[in-house]
Amino acid sequence: MMQTLFGVLALFIIVVVLLWVLVPAFYGLPPVSSRKERIRRALELANPQAGETLYDLGSGHGRVLIMAAKEFGLNAVGIETGPVQCVISRVNALRNGVSSKVRIEAGNFYKSNLKDADIVFAYLTSDHGNRLQEKLSRELKPGARVVTVSFNLPGWEEAFFDRENLIYIYKK
Ligand SMILES: C[S@@+](CC[C@H](N)C(=O)[O-])C[C@H]1O[C@@H](n2cnc3c(N)ncnc32)[C@H](O)[C@@H]1O
Repeated sequence: MMQTLFGVLALFIIVVVLLWVLVPAFYGLPPVSSRKERIRRALELANPQAGETLYDLGSGHGRVLIMAAKEFGLNAVGIETGPVQCVISRVNALRNGVSSKVRIEAGNFYKSNLKDADIVFAYLTSDHGNRLQEKLSRELKPGARVVTVSFNLPGWEEAFFDRENLIYIYKK
């Protein structure tokens, strides 16, 4: 009886770990969060106003969303494809007392509409630059800001570039 229980538990843990790592890997990205100081700097550069809405494309464990809600008074929406990341970020939002200001959508951000975003945050790779800039041009409202970390939008002119942290700020 005990052996079966341990077997089921071990299998469950293996499946969770595989989902945790493999789903982001399938989308070509490691499930790595940005450093807190880098996120704070990126958010400050976007000139956030309390009550605005921030979208994090590929929100991982929710670190950006939680800081946006807690320190900047933003409503934060995360779109994340990894099911384990979605669960962890919901728990993190709850633990940090910001679950009423944070929403996680499980899925592919290319299939979500970003028309409500005042600020879009994305920490992805340069493979996403072209496809993302077309989507942002189509969907974002005038005045919306885009913060990209580690990659740029090749057809857009940045309003500011933080060379040390590789943070690009754009304004539509
Ligand atoms: C480098 S992590 C960034 C996490 C978080 N934004 C941060 O800065 O801490 C990138 C995340 O994007 C997610 N991702 C990649 N492509 C995606 C897609 N098309 N739709 C939704 N999530 C995606 C991955 O699962 C991963 O968790």
